[in-house]
Amino acid sequence: MTTFNNLTTIKGLSRERLEYLLRMGREFERQPNRKILDGRIVATLFFEPSTRTRLSFETAALRLGARVIGFSDPAVTSSTKGETLEDTIRMVGNYADVIVMRHYIEGAAERAVKVSPVPIVNAGDGANQHPTQTMLDLYTILQTQGTLENLNIHLVGDLKYGRTVHSLLQAMGHFNPTFTFIAPRELAMPEKYKEYCHEHGIRFTETERFDAATIAEADILYMTRVQRERFADLDEYERVKDVYILNRDMLRDARANMRILHPLPRVNEISTDVDDSPHAYYFQQAKNGLFMRQAILCDALGLTLDDVRA
Ligand code: CP
Repeated sequence: MTTFNNLTTIKGLSRERLEYLLRMGREFERQPNRKILDGRIVATLFFEPSTRTRLSFETAALRLGARVIGFSDPAVTSSTKGETLEDTIRMVGNYADVIVMRHYIEGAAERAVKVSPVPIVNAGDGANQHPTQTMLDLYTILQTQGTLENLNIHLVGDLKYGRTVHSLLQAMGHFNPTFTFIAPRELAMPEKYKEYCHEHGIRFTETERFDAATIAEADILYMTRVQRERFADLDEYERVKDVYILNRDMLRDARANMRILHPLPRVNEISTDVDDSPHAYYFQQAKNGLFMRQAILCDALGLTLDDVRA
């Protein structure tokens, strides 16, 4: 029987497993062109829009010698005729060796796992989780700080709907971080994630203040976009959408090692005058998505670090 690994949430991954996947990603940064998935088929099912996640997964597959099927717009699929998610997954599982899926429903990837004959990789499910983004975030933090241990991580912006920050805090919980949650009241970190921090001994403080003095304490300044697509009330979105805008002057007291990350896309929350600051690292961060997604595809299909190195 073929062994494979689903990746639906970051929560169940041990520290050892995170570090193992990061080592595999490092192999692909050294050499991304390895035809070790020759003959495999990767399906990318995107029920929600994406630029980076879908294209980096597809690039990852192609650089590994696999071929890609899928869709970037559910409007062209039989889901418009009423086909259920479960039936769609069963069907695609007949054709592909691994399914990478993004869906607007929280828990969609877990539902897919229940019926899929092939591994499922969650490329984002509603406001819930974005585990592959977290893997590239960890990779980037390690790359820029030389360690994942004992860092001050400021999470800024939409902490209510931003699935990347939910996954990140759970993964970083293995490495003794100190979080500062910076958000307006309407977009504060949900109680269930604060509860998670309490249960796992993860230190955090909360503030609505976003200024040079707050930034001066950070090793990682993790900016997020206000997630317009998750608001039931668009007037509320209009009220909060530009609540925090990082500009270059606000970096005047930043630590030398501090790096600004953002899962992207950005809207207004980082001024373009920050882009050529030595602290800006969000475009390199997105590039790391390729290496980590190569590792995730290989791992999903049961290939090991030794297989990658062979
Ligand atoms: N960070 C991220 O998920 O980007 P996309 O929505 O463009 O895939």
